Formats: sequence, structure tokens, C-alpha cells
Amino acid sequence: MGKALDGVRILDFTHVQSGPTCTQLLAWFGADVIKVERPGEGDITRGQLRDIPDVDSLYFTMLNHNKRSITLDAKNARGKKVLEALVKHCDVLVENFAPGVLDRMGFGWERIHQLNPRMIVASVKGFGPGPYEECKVYENVAQCAGGSASTTGFRDGPPLVTGAQIGDSGTGLHLALGIVTALYQRVRTGRGQKVLCAMQDGVLNLARVKLRDQQRLKHGPLTEYSQYGENIPFGDATPRAGNDSGGGQPGWIVKCKGWETDPNAYIYFITQAPVWEAICDLIGKPEWKTDPDYATPPARLPRLRYIFDTIEEWTKTMSKFEVMDKCNAHDIPVGPILSMRELAEEPSLRTTGTVVEVDHPGRGKYLTVGNPVKLSDSPADVRRSPLLGEHTDEVLRKVLGYSDKDVAEIKASGAITAPEKPAKAA
Ligand code: COA
Repeated sequence: MGKALDGVRILDFTHVQSGPTCTQLLAWFGADVIKVERPGEGDITRGQLRDIPDVDSLYFTMLNHNKRSITLDAKNARGKKVLEALVKHCDVLVENFAPGVLDRMGFGWERIHQLNPRMIVASVKGFGPGPYEECKVYENVAQCAGGSASTTGFRDGPPLVTGAQIGDSGTGLHLALGIVTALYQRVRTGRGQKVLCAMQDGVLNLARVKLRDQQRLKHGPLTEYSQYGENIPFGDATPRAGNDSGGGQPGWIVKCKGWETDPNAYIYFITQAPVWEAICDLIGKPEWKTDPDYATPPARLPRLRYIFDTIEEWTKTMSKFEVMDKCNAHDIPVGPILSMRELAEEPSLRTTGTVVEVDHPGRGKYLTVGNPVKLSDSPADVRRSPLLGEHTDEVLRKVLGYSDKDVAEIKASGAITAPEKPAKAA
């Protein structure tokens, strides 16, 4: 079966997490992704957080499946010629260098557009145009600058970053959408264009409901926040809301059986209005169905803390999975707190290809997250990440059509190999 992006070739100049997330998705959709890495070292994450000496880290392998790797020194004169040829042979260049790096390499937008007017140049940067556009940015910087940290955590504690990599992987996802959209427009116009996704913008987009709440504050307290029920006044900015639900249906995380020893024996419980009566029956409070203090959503708002404490007395008698079974039987939405161990072992995620076991020549078998986006006509098989420079020769010959003589010259120029390190004195 063919793949959605068959025939699309990506010049992948990405590193670390945000850019590689994007190009990995495109590779799963069928694009031929050629990752360009610096000779010798390659993507810095190959060596970061290593669990096995001298073997590509899980950080790298889990972000670079289905790609080809070539080494190329973009500052070497011959290397620049190879890069020019690659620009002419590819549809999209994706990069997430620090601001100005591509220009310093001599491959700014004007030059690329001149070499290949159809090329789409897609970039992740930390900030968009403005006072911080020159800054280098990593995940947690983006979470803080994009509004996520100020609205995450408990009201009486410091701002918190979240474990989901919304700055890096979130922005990579946004960028992938921008790229396929630009490819679609190119079908009509024949022209490439620039695609920019700033990490601050990507995080703010994901924290959109908190900007909603910022504006609602002008018109009164945020009644669905538990702070309202506790009679604590609101300030002038959207506060941290603990485990309050971000929507109109109040929710909270409550304990389940075993919480004293198991840090994940909890469940998210949503008191959705249409199933309120079923909740009352389940938790042994049938009188709440008609009690005016509990019968309607507005009446419940000032009493949410007490309501969730009461629900917790019930959930504490069962495991999170038993609570889930009992609640789902009545269409009551609940979310068990699943640990990474539980997710890794969950058979249904293996069946759907969301959790995949991959074999790597250096590390053997490891688990990764497969493509979370499923297309019925474009299967996303997961192939191991490339070794550094594994496909240099193949790309030079088969994509760029270089002869033996050309390849020998390129090798001799030092464009694809790192200089030998001087041997240490005995
Ligand atoms: N050949 C030659 N030089 C290469 C090369 C290659 N194949 N690949 C990279 N380089 C060089 C660059 O030219 C640059 O050199 P210069 O500064 O002399 O021009 C150098 O490597 C470093 O690139 P840079 O992007 O500045 O890396 P860094 O490790 O210093 O910074 C980030 C890392 C992530 C902070 C930075 O790239 C960044 O802010 N990126 C945008 C935001 C982003 O994506 N952040 C999230 C990352 S998950």
C-alpha cells in the first residue's frame, strides 16, 4: 500500500526534539526524510541521557524513526555544494537551529528560494518576531513563556511545568501541519513558502482555554474553579487551578484503593451534569438528586470540594480500574492515572501500533511511541532510527547521482567525515 506523502522528499536539518518530532511524523506519513548531521557528533541527542555506552540514546532513537542519515559539514566549501544539490532535489527543508544559523551557513530564505523556488522552508524558533526573537529556547522555557506554567500547579504553590512536551513535540506537531498545508497550496501555485512555528505560540495555542478565562475574569469570578467555592478572591490573571477541569464540567483527581503506597492509585472524576443522578446513586447519595443544594450545576459549584471529598470516600474502596468499570457502565467519564509502566504494558496500545517494539543493532529491542495519527490508507510502520551517516553514500549516489569520482572527492574534502582526533600520547 502506498503512503500519503510518497514522493515528498524532506531535507531534515533538525536536531534535539521539536524539529525531529515534526520530520518523524512526515516520515511516518511516507515522506523520504534525509537527516543532515554534523560529521563526527551528529544530532547532540545521540549522546544525551545514554543508558548504554556508545549506543544512540533512546532520546535520539525515539525521535528519529523512518529517516535516513547523512553526515555533511555545511561550513565546508564542498559540503555547501552538496547542500545546494540537496536543496534542488528536495521539496521541504525543515530546521530548528538557533535564530540566524541558517543565514550564517549561507542558506537563508532568499538563497534557497533562488536555488529551488518550489521549496518549502519550515522552521521552529523559540519566539516569533519581537523582543525575544534572537533567544535560544528549550522545552521548559517555552512552557513558561507560553502561559502553561503560570496556569499549572496549585494556587498556593509555584508555577509548574508539565511532563508532556508541549513546547517541543507540540510545536513539532504544529509545524508538520504547516508543512502539509504549504505542500497543498504549492499544488495550486507551484511556489514554496516559509513556514514558521514559534514555540511560545505553539504553547499558547495549547493553553488557549486559559486566555479564555483571562477575559472572563473581567466579568466576575471563574465559578467552576474550586477557588470560587472556597471563597478565595481572584487576582488579575488566570490562576493556577490544581486539578480543576479546564471545561464547563467540574472535575478533580481523587484517591483510589492503595493510594497510600501506589503513587498512581488515583482517578480523574468528572461530575458531568447529564449523569449527575447516576453519580449520586453510585456513591450512595441518592438524596442529592433532589436536594436543592446539589440538584443543579450552579447549586453544586460552591460545594465542589465537599462533593469530591464524598466521591473520594467511595473511590477509595476500589482500584482505579474498578472505579472506571463502574462509572463507564453509566457513561460517567473518568480517567485512571496510568503510569508509564502501565502504558508500556497495555496490550491494546500494542495492537493499534501506538506503543511499538523496535529492534536496533546497537541496543536490541526497545519500546517507542508509534504514529498517534492513524490513516486508513497510509499505514505507518515504524523503522529504527538511522546510525550516524548510515545513508551518506546511498544519498550521494542515488538521490544526487554522484559518480565514484565525485564521492571520492567529497570524502577527500572532509565534507562528510570528521577530522581524525589526534592519538593520545602513550
Ligand atoms: N554542519 C556544520 N555546522 C553545523 C551543522 C552541520 N551539519 N549542523 C549544525 N551546525 C552548527 C550551526 O551552523 C551552528 O553554528 P554557528 O552558531 O557557528 O552558526 C551550531 O552548529 C549550533 O547550532 P545551534 O542551533 O545554535 O545549536 P545549539 O546547541 O547552540 O542550540 C537550541 C540549541 C535548541 C537552543 C537552538 O538550536 C534553538 O534555539 N533552536 C530553536 C528553538 C528550538 O527548536 N528549541 C527546542 C529544541 S528541542
